[in-house]
This record gives sequence, C-alpha cells and structure tokens, in this order.
Amino acid sequence: MARAKRVVLAYSGGVDTSVCIPYLRQEWGVEEVITFAADLGQGDELEPIRRKALDAGASQSIVGDLIEPFIADYAFPAIRANALYEGRYPLSTALARPLIAKRLVEVAREVGADAVAHGCTGKGNDQVRFDVAIASLAPDLKVLTPAREWGMSREETIAYGERYGLPAPVSKASPYSIDLNLLGRSVEAGPLEDPMVPPPEEVFAITASIDQAPDAAETIEIAFEQGNPVAIDGKPLDPVSMLRRANALAGRHGIGRLDMIENRVVGIKSREIYETPGLLLLIQAHQELESLTLAADVLRYKRQVEATWADLVYQGLWFGPLKHALDGFLDRTQEDVNGTVRLKLHKGNAVVVGRGSADSLYTPDMATYGSDDRFDHRAAEGFIYVWGLPLRLWSAVRRAGGR
Ligand code: ARG
Repeated sequence: MARAKRVVLAYSGGVDTSVCIPYLRQEWGVEEVITFAADLGQGDELEPIRRKALDAGASQSIVGDLIEPFIADYAFPAIRANALYEGRYPLSTALARPLIAKRLVEVAREVGADAVAHGCTGKGNDQVRFDVAIASLAPDLKVLTPAREWGMSREETIAYGERYGLPAPVSKASPYSIDLNLLGRSVEAGPLEDPMVPPPEEVFAITASIDQAPDAAETIEIAFEQGNPVAIDGKPLDPVSMLRRANALAGRHGIGRLDMIENRVVGIKSREIYETPGLLLLIQAHQELESLTLAADVLRYKRQVEATWADLVYQGLWFGPLKHALDGFLDRTQEDVNGTVRLKLHKGNAVVVGRGSADSLYTPDMATYGSDDRFDHRAAEGFIYVWGLPLRLWSAVRRAGGR
C-alpha cells in the first residue's frame, strides 16, 4: 500500500533529500513527488537545485523566496528577544524551520498533496521542529520521513541514488554537515566530533580569523526603532539589507564565531561550530539599548523570558501557546527600545562605547557626582532604615538565641 499519492518534499539539493525522491517513489509507492526548496539567503544557486530535483524524478520542482519573511518575521523577533540558546547560540538554523514548515504546508494545500516529507535523520533537532510545526499547522497531513527509516549509511545512500540516476557528489565529499542561511552557518561532524580538536580554519566561510582581521578598529552606530534594527551609520536599511550589512561588518572583523557543546532536544550533547556575525552583533547592540531604555524590573523579568523563549524556539515550539503568550510580553517591552548604540569592532570583539535614546531612563541630574546633583541624599537615611529593618530584626533574634 502506497503511503501517500502526492507528496511535497522539503528539498535542499543535498544527498539525503535528493535520494528521498526516488526512495519515496520506488520503496513507498508515492505517485508524485513535488519538491519545495526555500531560498533563505544561503547564496546557493537555486536553478541547478531546481533542475536536480526534476532529474531525480520529481514531477514538479518549486523554489520559494523566503528571505524577506525569514528576516522580518523570524530573525527580528529573535533580536528583540535577545534569544541565545544556552546563553550563546542565536538560533540561526532553528529560526528557519518553522517558516519552511509553514510554507511547505501552504504548497501542499496549493497542489492538493496528501502528505509532506523531509529528509531529516532521527538524531537531530530539525526533525522535531518540522514534525511539531507541521502537526500543529496541518494535523490532517501525513509527514513522511524516509531518512529516519531507511537505515542506509552515507555510502549506501549515495549508491542508492546512483541506481536512480543521481550522480555521486563530484568533489571528495566534505566531512562536515553544514546548514546555511542569511543568519549564518552551522557546522558539525567530521573532525569536529572530537570536542578537544580545535575547529580547522576551513570550516569558516563568512568570518575572518583573528589573525586576518584588520589591525585598525572600526566604529559603527546601529539605530533601533521599537527593538528592530533600522539603520547603520545613519543609513536606513530594510531588514534583509540590515542582516547583509551587519554580516559584512562583523564578519570582516572576525566577530561571531562560536564553538560550543549544546544539548539537543533528543537528549544528546553535540559539538557545533557557528558563524553568525551579523545576528550576534545586532543582539549585542539591542541588549545594550535595553539597558538604557527599560525599567529595572522589566529588564530583569525580560531576561528570564528571553531564556524561555530561546528554549521554545530551539525545541520546535514556535507555533505553541507559551511562545504566543510570551510574544505579547516581548512586544510591549519593545515600545520604548528606540535609539542608537555605538560599537567598536576589532579583532573578534565588538565593544559598546556609547548609547543614546530619546526614551532613555538614564537621568543625568540624578546620576551625576557634580554640582547639579538633584538627588536628595538625606532621603537615603530613612530608606535605608526601612530597607534594613527585616535584616536587623532577624539578626537580633538570632543573637538573643545565642547564635
Ligand atoms: N544544532 C543546530 C540546531 O539544532 C544546527 C543544526 C543543523 N546543523 C548542521 N550542521 N547541519 O539548531
């Protein structure tokens, strides 16, 4: 019995997703495989990828430009949330998945498919993100996952593809698994599987090494409106241009490399190398502007919400109820996050050297140590009497008890 008649497959042009095409048709009796490849600013030539799917037996090969919504509706909310999984990873891969899933479901509706498919293996986070997103958006659609079930090694997968006319990768296959989009690159496997082995320079592509970064520092200014980055050095930039410019600036100075052991949803630790220059730069600047414009209690509370929000996105719960509710909180906090942050980029570091805002809560005549100080120093005495009262009572009782 065929598992489905007409399937829309999320397609990247890589070995696994390409082999999914003949596999779905030959082994699982699918009549029609329609591929969907998303342009997320990865810089790949999409026309060859589109044709490759047809050569592998797809009945239709669709390419969708998702760059603009990817940055405006997924990356910008992450900047507003200062989202860093486990305090470090800015979710460059994770953020793309709910958008791909959403578009995949839309395409499935447009072509009247009864199932969607993806080429994720059973060990990663991406399968979780796709499956959970699709199930919430389209509970009636089946999700077919050949690569999770076929049990073929990489060599066997390539040999299987060759039998159905898919050429083996021409260059000596890279030992790395790489995921790429406009937010950055995620690299794992090969020599990186030994957590003690330093990442070889060849794994990096969009950031300079510290050695190659210019000796001269560069100072830039990033302007924000309601938490969204809108201009660099006074030049207004749309969201996609903003990411491109921030990537170029930070990448040139060697900013945005991460080497981390992270905890996957499926319970294993993995070693991943990330290059996310622009996104990390924008989050750093955004965080700084919040320190100037958010009230102390809002700021502290938001830092906890941010960690939860990052966990939800990492764990594939983008379309879930908690994420939805937290978005409401985050949006309110961003009303006052307007202003400019000045940063000095140099040899792998971005150092904040200035910040300004019309919504600044920094009050010079309260903060100053100069003669125009308006802070009432005598008021501190009564405040401290009340503030320290519980502590004095507690220690008095302990002393009376001989402790
Ligand atoms: N560990 C990252 C995440 O789960 C990236 C996953 C994809 N990485 C890769 N090298 N293929 O978001």
